[in-house]
Parts: sequence; C-alpha cells; structure tokens
Amino acid sequence: DKGTYPFYMLKEVDEQPVVMRKLVQEYLDDEGIPKIDPKLLAQMKAADRLYIVGAGTSYHAGLIGARLFERLTGISTQVFISSEFAYEQPIMAAKPFFIFLTQSGETADSREVLVNVKKQGWPSLTITNVPKSTLSREASFTLLLHAGPEISVASTKAYTAQVAFQAILAKALGMAMNKENAANFDIKQQLGLVAIGMQAIVDSKDELESIASRYLSQPRNAFYIGRGIDWSVALESALKLKEISYVQAEGFASGELKHGTIALIEDKTPVIGIITQDRTANLTRSNLQEVVSRGASVLTIASKHLSQPDDTIVLPDVDPLLSPLLSVVPAQLLAYYTSLGKGLDVDKPRNLAKSVTVQ
Ligand code: F6R
Repeated sequence: DKGTYPFYMLKEVDEQPVVMRKLVQEYLDDEGIPKIDPKLLAQMKAADRLYIVGAGTSYHAGLIGARLFERLTGISTQVFISSEFAYEQPIMAAKPFFIFLTQSGETADSREVLVNVKKQGWPSLTITNVPKSTLSREASFTLLLHAGPEISVASTKAYTAQVAFQAILAKALGMAMNKENAANFDIKQQLGLVAIGMQAIVDSKDELESIASRYLSQPRNAFYIGRGIDWSVALESALKLKEISYVQAEGFASGELKHGTIALIEDKTPVIGIITQDRTANLTRSNLQEVVSRGASVLTIASKHLSQPDDTIVLPDVDPLLSPLLSVVPAQLLAYYTSLGKGLDVDKPRNLAKSVTVQ
C-alpha cells in the first residue's frame, strides 16, 4: 500500500534510512561486529577471486561492492553483467566464489550464470530481497536484504540495501582474514551516519523538484560524470533518469569526456558531476569546466568536505567508501521529479517489467 504517496517509487526512496537501520539490526551485534554464517565466510576466504554477477541496477551495486571487497579483504574481485557472463565465460581463477546480486531473485540472465556455476562445482551466494526466490533456493548460500517489498519498477532501496549489505559482508570477511582495514571500518557508526544523511536528502525534495524542472524537463540528453566510485554511481543515476523520464542519459568516466563524448555537449546540455572522493575531486571539477565552456548546464553533487559555494547539492560526509549510499539519493529524486513533471507513470515505465524472467 502506498498510503499517501502518489507513487511507490517516492515511498521507497523515503524508506531508505529505515532500510539502513534494519540492516544494522539484522546483521550487526551491539559492538558493530557482523553476524554472518562462519561456514559462508570460510568458503569465501578460501577463494582466490570473487565474481559478482548482476543485471541493471544490481550490476551497478556490484561495481561498488567490488571496491568494498577489495579494500576490506584484499581478495581480487570482478563484476559482470549476467547476460554477458552467461555466454562468454572468461578464463577463471583457480578457486572462484560467486556472489549473485538480484533484488527479485528471479532474473533469468543471472539464473543462467548460476546454473553454469553449479555445473562447474563452484560455491555461490545469492543476495536477494525476496525469500524463497529461484536464485535464493539454488545458490549454496542466501542472505536477505530485508528492504521490504519494492513495487516500483525503478529500483531504489534495493540498490542502497545491496551496497550497504556488501559493506557489512566485506567487513565480516576482512575480519575473518584478520585484515586491519576491516577491523577499523566502523560500519555500524557509518550506517548510522548514512541513515541520517539520507534523511536530510529526502527532506530536501522541494529543492530537487525545482532543479529537475529547471534543468532536466526539456533536454533530450543528459550526462552524469564522475571518476572511480563516483563513475559507478553516475551509471546508476543515468539508468534511473532514462528508465522513468525517457531522457537519453548516460554515465561517463569524466576522464573519458575528451576522448569522444564531449562532442555531444550542446548549449544547455545538463551535465551532473558527482564529487565525493578526495583523490579525484579536482580532476572531475576541471572536466566540468571543460563542458561549461562548451555551453553545458553544469550541476554538482558533492560531499560536504569537498564542496564549493556554488555546488548544487551538498551531501553530508560519510566514509568515502560508502558515499554511493548518499550520492545516489538526489539522482533518484531528480529522476522521479523529471518523470512526474512530464506526467509519466513513474512506477510503470513503458516497455519494462519488474522482474525479467526471459533471457
Ligand atoms: C532498474 C532495475 C533493473 C533491475 C534488473 C535486475 O531500476 O530495477 O535494472 O535491477 O532488472 O533485477 P534483479 O535485481 O531483480 O535481478
């Protein structure tokens, strides 16, 4: 039931702080130590490479997860689009461990990979929001996102739950491997800060609605840019905008602009820069300068400690590894209000289904 909300998507965006707290409650003890099945951790620890597999938004969540696993466990981690991996398996590590990210647990492309993985005798974990779903039944291990039902076709709270859950799992695995980085990563405190930060962003809806109507309602094209983890969020942000507002939106690695993409910039093309990482903030800002001088309408989503007076949206500071949990929220709301402003059916965009059970 969507209660007083006009669309499920807005309700689900608003639920994200609660989802963060629910994950803390389900998966962390009072001291903030993850409660994860030791048998699962033992199998993951034995792997020489982690393979994260997903489609669409779940693939985008995996891009963030790979960085969390590499940083907190030191295990090399690769991310694959399920429909690609299914038909072109790369040369494999000796001891792979597979992580399937799937909100619905029913995505046929992801299932195809799981079937092949099982045939080859490799261990797997499904991270899903739907208990008893197909992929949850078929993997060696299953863990639930506890995000509550996601009805809107555009995934929002499942993405942030997938990212936050992978952080918890990466910490658990890193601790099982005696990694100092993992022991020092105060995930409980950080997810608390994330929940508060998300609340501040969802409370600024009026501002996001007016930004959407001013900059995104007219143009046919829009670009999100960023580097590293911010690029991964740019991909997800662009997917949200294209799928519900039908703006041709793309996420680009900002360093790539001058290698071709910049030719697309016209007068008033919206370019939204995501800036949350110390090492790359200035580089992304200079890429934004390059598009400004070609007439683009530049907007920024920047972490507080890196912000400048004319930034469009300023995000509260959290651990930089968890910045996607905040930077994606304004992008979800910009997509929502662009779609709403065009009078579209936000929850049921054309040509799309909530779970994709054909390959
Ligand atoms: C986009 C979206 C899709 C799904 C994709 C995978 O908002 O929801 O891209 O993420 O179809 O679905 P699951 O996670 O159910 O496997």
